[in-house]
Parts: sequence; structure tokens; C-alpha cells
Amino acid sequence: MNTSVPSSLTLDGTPMIEQLRQLGELGADREAGGRTRIALTDDERAGRDLVVRWMRELDLDVRVDRIGNIFGTLRSDDDGSQRPLMMGSHIDTVKSAGALEGCYGVLAGLAVVRAFRQAGIGPQRSITIGVFTNEEGIRYQPDMMGSLVYAGGLSVDAALNTIGIDGTRLGDELVRIGYAGDLEPRAIVPHEYLELHIEQGPILEAENICIGVVENLQGISWQQITVEGNANHAGTTPTRLRHDAGWAAAAVSTFLRELAVTTGTTLATIGMLRIEPNVINVIPSKAVFTVDLRDPDEQRLQDAERRLAEFLEEVAEKEGVKITNERLVRFEPVVFDAGLADAIEASAERMGFTHRRMTSGAGHDAQMIARIAPAAMIFVPSRGGISHNPREHTDDDQLIDGANVLLDVVLQLLAAK
Ligand code: GLV
Ligand code: MN
Repeated sequence: MNTSVPSSLTLDGTPMIEQLRQLGELGADREAGGRTRIALTDDERAGRDLVVRWMRELDLDVRVDRIGNIFGTLRSDDDGSQRPLMMGSHIDTVKSAGALEGCYGVLAGLAVVRAFRQAGIGPQRSITIGVFTNEEGIRYQPDMMGSLVYAGGLSVDAALNTIGIDGTRLGDELVRIGYAGDLEPRAIVPHEYLELHIEQGPILEAENICIGVVENLQGISWQQITVEGNANHAGTTPTRLRHDAGWAAAAVSTFLRELAVTTGTTLATIGMLRIEPNVINVIPSKAVFTVDLRDPDEQRLQDAERRLAEFLEEVAEKEGVKITNERLVRFEPVVFDAGLADAIEASAERMGFTHRRMTSGAGHDAQMIARIAPAAMIFVPSRGGISHNPREHTDDDQLIDGANVLLDVVLQLLAAK
């Protein structure tokens, strides 16, 4: 194969857009809209099978590691002497998701590889497309699990033994869907890692900017809080005698909103909430809820965690309830590789796209890979800033622009070797 790569190659955006549509059909919810392709379910297996088929169509060498991460590699002639350039993301989704997040990074990676195939040339270094297991973390925590294991931040065995919110063991589900591979995670350490993603937020659209150069990613703290009070009659129990777990949960919710508003940078979400017995005329005996706290600054994130802990003590005391909390996820903010961010910016500039530096509000596999290799991300606009919602949307031409920037960055990095 010819390996003298020209400084530009042509990316055909049509197959990528068509593949996004096809992948988006898997797990589609015809009534509620969107699709639900939660990690290691049958629908996600179907998504994996489809992506593996597409990798094979491009004649990539496909390998699966012990945590189910999938890698498709376009080999260079001198493969082995140099580490590959890796691109990737994930194809698992939240509930009622859009078709783009995660999938776009994977399928744009395939589009880059396709550009090499169509030109009949091989890359100077191998190119690997990674599809990481369980990025969303809604069934098994933590999120970004496959890339975290891959980066050595969690042992394979601990990950395989994770019990999901549905009581299943992750390792069993991985075997069941046929993606318990034998490759040791980190058998392929990339030379660098690029992740193209929709912004999932409102900034690029609001500022009418095509390309986000992502230079950092905020810290994430997830915990589950359990309040135990007393069930009692809603009509006969005076307020001062109540031990109302429902009220305590509501007070925490109000406190978190105030905390977010006063700091201006911390984000706080109660995304799951269950009360018992959940009956109209009974004071709740129990409330179980999750708290998602984020901040780009580690110190401010720690402050928010401390203030929440103090408030929980205060509420427990005031209402006479027992409050316990379990930490589910804790990731510090990440600063991406400055050289890669510069390369992305230079490509966007050269190609005539408006661009800006930005922080990622969402968690991404790139934040884990950044532990073992230089990593950075490229964002494209999300209409209305909407994501984790069936209405998530980015125009096809914006998606193709992002893929073209990705290809250009890849060509520059390969040329620099
Ligand atoms: C995962 O993608 C998250 O940001 O929660
Ligand atoms: Mn997500």
C-alpha cells in the first residue's frame, strides 16, 4: 500500500450520516421517541454487532478486550514500531436518547479510515477506532467505565463484578452478549487520542460557532443518598412530630439549587428519586435519591461536596431522620493536551471554520484516556443545547464539518509522526 499521505484527503460524509441513522434505529422507542440502548443490553449488542460489521467492511483488524471495549485498527505498513493514533467514543445510550452522542465520534472515526481506504493509501502510523463500554453509567457505575478500566483507573475484575441497578453482574452480561474479549485492556496504548462529539450544551449554537476546541472537562461527583424517617398518617400527625423523608429530600433539592445559583459554576442535579411508600396520605418513610455535582474546579467541587454533607447533617437533626450517603462516582477535572488542542484549533482555522476554546460539561471517554496518552476533543453545535433527550440534533452539514476537522487533525498528526 502507498503510504505517502497527501496533506489532504476527501472525507465522504454520506456514509457516516447514513450509519448514524441506522445505528439510531437500534433500541428505537416508537412511542416516546428516541432510542434506549443501555450498556450490555440486547439492543446495545445489536449496535456493537453493526459497528463491528462496518469495521470489517473497512477491513479493519477488530479486537475486543476483557471489559468489552472494541478496537478496529487500520494497520500501517510499519505497524508495531509506533503506537497508533486512536479516535473513538461509545455507542451505549441513556434512556430515550438522541442518535448522536458517542456514536458520532465512533462513526466519524470510521469515516476518517474510509477516506484512507477510498484513496487507496495507508496511514504512516496505524489508526485505531475505539468503542468504549458503558460510557453512560446509568446501569452500572461508574460512567466512562470501559475507558477507565482501559486507562488503569479501575481493575478489570472490579468492573466485571459491578452489580447494576437491575441486579445483574456486568461480567455476566458481557458474556451473555458475546463481548467478553480476551485482549488485556491497555494492550494497545495510543500515541494520542481524539474524540469528536456533539457539544450537548448551548454555547456553540448561541455564539454561532462551528467548532469547539475542548481544552478541559469538569469534575464529576455522584452520590446516592438514603433518608430514613417514619411513615405516619398525613392527616393526624402534627408537623412538629414528623420524620418526613420526602420533605428531607425536597429540602436537599432546594439547597442544591441555591448552592448552584450562588456559586455560579457548580451544577447540581437530583436525577433519580424514589420515595416510600409513595402513597397520597402517608408521610414518606424513606427517600432514596442521587446527586450529580459538577464543577471545572476541583476545590469548588470539594466545597460543594462539603456543604452538601453539612446540610445533610443539619436536615437529619432538624427532622429526626437518618441520612446515609454512598459515593458512586468521583472524577477530578481534566485538562486536555495543549498540543492537541492547538492542532485542532489550527485545523479549524485553516479550514475556515469559526472556533472557540471550551470546557466540556459532560463526561467523556477522552477524560480517561487522558491518563495514559495525550487526548483532546472536538465539539460541534447541539441544536438548542439539548442532549440526553430524543430531540438532540445537529445538522448533517455540521456533523460533516466536524468530521472534516477530525480528518485534517489526523493528517497533521500523522505527518508530524
Ligand atoms: C456522561 O456522559 C455524563 O456526562 O454524565
Ligand atoms: Mn452522556
